[in-house]
Amino acid sequence: MTFSHSHLLGIEPLAPADITAILDLADDYVALNRRDVKHGDALDGLTQINMFFENSTRTQASFELAGKRLGADVMNMAMQASSIKKGETLIDTAMTLNAMHPDLLVVRHPHSGAVDLLAQKVRCAVLNAGDGRHEHPTQALLDALTIRRAKGRLHRLNVAICGDIAHSRVARSNLLLLGKMENRVRLIGPPTLMPAQIREFGVEVYDDMREGLKDVDVVMMLRLQKERMDGGFIPSEREYYHRYGLDGEKLAYAREDAIVMHPGPMNRGVEIDGEIADDINRSVIQDQVEMGVAVRMAAMDLLARNLRARRAEAGAAI
Ligand code: NCD
Repeated sequence: MTFSHSHLLGIEPLAPADITAILDLADDYVALNRRDVKHGDALDGLTQINMFFENSTRTQASFELAGKRLGADVMNMAMQASSIKKGETLIDTAMTLNAMHPDLLVVRHPHSGAVDLLAQKVRCAVLNAGDGRHEHPTQALLDALTIRRAKGRLHRLNVAICGDIAHSRVARSNLLLLGKMENRVRLIGPPTLMPAQIREFGVEVYDDMREGLKDVDVVMMLRLQKERMDGGFIPSEREYYHRYGLDGEKLAYAREDAIVMHPGPMNRGVEIDGEIADDINRSVIQDQVEMGVAVRMAAMDLLARNLRARRAEAGAAI
């Protein structure tokens, strides 16, 4: 096993072998999760604290379930967005946490970089559950596992990421992961929702959905992240759906066996047609949720192994 990281803060620091190690172990956990008795012992005796400074349904539930299935004591801390406006407060939070001796800390935060900062101050493994527009590594990993299982490989695929790229940490983490695994990524969306200098990432950029979807293997749709927009980025939701909403007519430009993905939460009729989202022959949206639990179990298992090894080493040195 090559995975030697202390934290999972983003896809950026991971090597392709790290990604493969997480996905291989996650495959085992998918099998465990499909059994009647779903208990593993990889996190036995460890304490996992989930700190979500931003709303979340599936990510938080997924991390909670993942920890519980592997035997951790899991606690969800209710965080008020208003209490973390200042950097100092975050450091205070870290001090409080250290006193509680957690082993795994799962953090979602509205500010890019906040999770990295916290990781420098706490004495446990930190997992980034989404920080601002920066990264959302477990989402990209669960997307990768979903693609690998549906397509039988995770390289040399044409993947289109569509919609609100500018505000999306999901797009950023996916872009990094898919690039590291040698896939071709196309970004499709209105120029107002495309980050400046995006072409430097080595991607193809389209503002025409039909042109961009031509012959792709994977269509990844994104939510319009209105909470991160401070002005009029689109003329109207109706107009947006007309040009960028995924419906049967636009999907026909992709390969016949192309899969449709969405990280959730979905706005039906805004970025995606409800019928496409529910079409079990095309949509893997429910698989993504299933893979999410398994990937988080794998990531926490690998981090816990490294944490235990480091502590044993430190203990032996005393
Ligand atoms: C994403 C997120 O929070 O970044 N959702 C998720 O984790 N399932 C995407 C989104 O909110 O649109």
